[in-house]
Amino acid sequence: MDLRPVGIFDSGLGGLTVAKALRELMPEESFVYFGDTGRMPYGPRPAEQLRRMAVQNMEFVASFGVKAIIAACGTVSSTAPDLLESFRLPVFGVLKAGVRALAAVPGDEPVAVIATEASIKSGAYARAFQQAAPGRELICVACPAFVPLIESGHNSPEDRELRAAAETYLSPIREAGAAALLLGCTHYGIIEETVGRVLGPETELISAAGCAARDLRDYLAARGLEGGGSREDYYTSGSVERFNEEAAAFLGWSVEGRVRQVPVMDPDT
Ligand code: DGL
Repeated sequence: MDLRPVGIFDSGLGGLTVAKALRELMPEESFVYFGDTGRMPYGPRPAEQLRRMAVQNMEFVASFGVKAIIAACGTVSSTAPDLLESFRLPVFGVLKAGVRALAAVPGDEPVAVIATEASIKSGAYARAFQQAAPGRELICVACPAFVPLIESGHNSPEDRELRAAAETYLSPIREAGAAALLLGCTHYGIIEETVGRVLGPETELISAAGCAARDLRDYLAARGLEGGGSREDYYTSGSVERFNEEAAAFLGWSVEGRVRQVPVMDPDT
């Protein structure tokens, strides 16, 4: 048993889909969550800046004495995979776990991934998939409008703006008859129903969030490092009030009284 918490970070609320999966899989695990809402969205930022921010965020959660970290952000996972791997603590990204699940989808129809602009531009999803399932077609689509929409509360499948953006991004995937779609950005878990409605039941939806949480569980179990508590501490570089309000929609439980604000870090240092 290891009572140290797990550290989780993301650009904002999206990583809460990983926190939720972790809580479901491991009810007796404490975690420290950092949502970098003050610097959100990450998707349009240049790779060099994202790599510095990846290190800053890992250092921030590591300062709480965590035993392992989940980089619950597709953008960081795909632009700084080497930095995640070489950090002094075990760090789990969402890219590898998600691609592994996508590559295991049977059949030879194309499959697809949607993610932020920086994630798709990095080519990391395409490269990892090519290695895991050589020869199978992967359709990669950047969806830059999704994160800002989600962070401003446009989550509902009935939301007109969200639905219009989803139609635009997803129709090429529907037309290609994709067998499966990887939600390569952790924010997208909250709009899974909207995505499913646009694509129809033939396309299996794979959540990178759930895959990463399972990777961490397996890692801790194999080493006897499971926890024995269920404490949850949240930090945001944005508004605590907004985090309180929006987090409940992601998690399905209230975080009231457990959220603290931290200053916005300079992305260029
Ligand atoms: N949740 C982040 C991801 O998985 C969103 C990045 C953003 O803020 O644009 O990529």
